[in-house]
Amino acid sequence: MFWTKKRVFLTGNTGFKGSWLTLLLQQLGAEVIGYALAPPTTPSLFESAKIRGDSRWIEGDVRDLELLTKSLKEAKPDVVIHMAAQALVRESYLDPVGTYATNVMGTVNVLEAIRNADSVQVTVVVTSDKCYENREWPWGYRENEAMGGVDPYSNSKGCAELVTSAYRASFFNKSKSGHRAAIASARAGNVIGGGDWAADRLVPDIIRAILKGEAVKIRNPHSIRPWQHVLEPLSGYLRLAEALWTDGTKFEGGWNFGPADEDAQPVSHLVEKIATLWGPSARWEFDEDKHPHEAHYLKLDCSKARMSLGWRPRMRLDEALASLVEWYRGYRDQVDLRKLTDQQIHEYGARAGKSAAGE
Ligand SMILES: NC(=O)c1ccc[n+]([C@@H]2O[C@H](COP(=O)([O-])OP(=O)(O)OC[C@H]3O[C@@H](n4cnc5c(N)ncnc54)[C@H](O)[C@@H]3O)[C@@H](O)[C@H]2O)c1
Repeated sequence: MFWTKKRVFLTGNTGFKGSWLTLLLQQLGAEVIGYALAPPTTPSLFESAKIRGDSRWIEGDVRDLELLTKSLKEAKPDVVIHMAAQALVRESYLDPVGTYATNVMGTVNVLEAIRNADSVQVTVVVTSDKCYENREWPWGYRENEAMGGVDPYSNSKGCAELVTSAYRASFFNKSKSGHRAAIASARAGNVIGGGDWAADRLVPDIIRAILKGEAVKIRNPHSIRPWQHVLEPLSGYLRLAEALWTDGTKFEGGWNFGPADEDAQPVSHLVEKIATLWGPSARWEFDEDKHPHEAHYLKLDCSKARMSLGWRPRMRLDEALASLVEWYRGYRDQVDLRKLTDQQIHEYGARAGKSAAGE
């Protein structure tokens, strides 16, 4: 098994995706060394699934190059997965400087630290589907499309892509620098799943309202997003890291990991489905207040990951929604959330080799 005893340095391990990825990697036999600020929300998956006491975590800032370099050197990882970020569009309007500092200079610092750590063979930098210049096209964006982003968050992710590409060409080019690390970036869309409590994200907003017995206010109900369960892109990142390990030159560059075409659905579709799955206590209404600009249409073309990595989505949107409703009901009923999360990862693993399209 590829991941058995691999040492993985994971930035952003205390966040929503980082917590799922820690548990997934642990199930695969890897040793995870996390580097991040404290969990960004209360509650958090990191705390409620008891990941804090059960994995290594260095509490640190990616803006702190000295601590990052020291931590990475000491950890001696084989693989680095960089996910730490200010991950919210709305927060990026309130704090653009902090967003750029973390998302852009943080990425520079991680790559700089890797230059000084001989052990690292493979790095995956996690950005976002929002890194692309959004032209409201009806078709999916391909990896060679222009970077862009109107709001500071999206734009910072486009910048992180450019930084990654410049570092790869300048410092991780074997013929020029002799450094062995193979580097790729991963672009995924809006992920959903149990344990997300972020402010101003659709699913946590819905769940918080349901748990309080209130009607949830929905902004931008007609915006179409490529929804996918959190385990889908995470499995893509791991598949990509494995491929980079075997052939760094062939697999470096940018990679899209998105859902099946039919699962790019409007916000209203998601809300209605969750409400139906939850039962009559779930209510919603449109929020007519003015909101800052958010892109209306964005879809990824994942042909490259499909053809070259053999990666494809394993869950349809309905299944992802059923799984997240199961998780939040478990939260409400105070079940053992570590057990439930581990079980959902196990069930996802059992789908290996089967695609969502039933191929
Ligand atoms: N959630 C999504 O729908 C989605 C979609 C596309 C891309 N992404 C990307 O995936 C990654 C993880 O997203 P998430 O949803 O888990 O976000 P999250 O907000 O739940 O977690 C962010 C993580 O980064 C850490 N962090 C933030 N600022 C930091 C700093 N200055 N120094 C060190 N650590 C810091 C936090 O402590 C936390 O561990 C991010 O890079 C995000 O941009 C997320």
